[in-house]
Amino acid sequence: MKDPIKEAASIIRESKYLVALTGAGISVESGIPAFRGSQGLWDKYDPFEYAHISSFYNNPKKVWSMLRELYRISLNAKPNPAHYALSRLEEMGFLKAIITQNVDGLHQRAGSKRVIEFHGSGETLTCLDCRKKYKIYDVDINVPLPKCSCGGVLKPDIVFFGEMIPPEALDESMNLARCADVFMVVGTSAQVYPAAGLPIMAKERGARIIEINLELTQLTSSITDVFLQGRAGEILPLLVGEILKGNRSKVDNS
Ligand code: OAD
Repeated sequence: MKDPIKEAASIIRESKYLVALTGAGISVESGIPAFRGSQGLWDKYDPFEYAHISSFYNNPKKVWSMLRELYRISLNAKPNPAHYALSRLEEMGFLKAIITQNVDGLHQRAGSKRVIEFHGSGETLTCLDCRKKYKIYDVDINVPLPKCSCGGVLKPDIVFFGEMIPPEALDESMNLARCADVFMVVGTSAQVYPAAGLPIMAKERGARIIEINLELTQLTSSITDVFLQGRAGEILPLLVGEILKGNRSKVDNS
């Protein structure tokens, strides 16, 4: 059987429109916990109590206790080799866009240019009363309930359960899924829709699916063409190395 990294590298080398969908797993090696699985955030915090928009409106102080913990980790986190490998793939001209479910800004910090933040961003906050926007670095998150100068409660611009996906991000992502001839799915359990529907949509349009994950997901046996099992921070740099090797041998042979 062909080495799956070599197989994925050859698919990517021949691709015309590669798109990536990333999830919490890609940031685990940066020290940010994922949501599901052992040591996942939803093991410690019930998502219905902490991640639903109605919970935020009913008891913002309680939800902010979780957000504070997450911010303390994510604001100090740095991109890992997986983020840099995707940024390199874009620089090399293969990767056309990243659709990320993450709100940590690590793809952008690794240098990726076209990043669609499907679940919003933790880097900005909006006042629930006057709608004034703040940058996270201008807000003191160490108080029990961060507030606007008008006295209103500040909510991070991340998508809570029960909220809509930002319409522009949804449109752009659906277009990308339709255009992709190769769709790479990295570090997501593919359980939350509509994000989990994007690789399915791409597959229906004929895209090849490359999946990178520590574990099998519902996509693995249904639509995945090449499954690369392992840590994204190890697999993605190997994949980029393999693509570069192929490019060099093309030049050598010409
Ligand atoms: P999950 O926590 O559901 O899934 C993380 C996936 O990453 C799992 O399948 C793990 O096996 C895998 N994984 C963990 N470490 C990895 C590593 N080092 N390399 C590769 N894979 C690894 O996270 P998401 O699928 O992103 O939404 O969750 C989707 C959404 O559910 C989130 O955006 C969030 C959450 O509730 C909202 O808050 C709206």
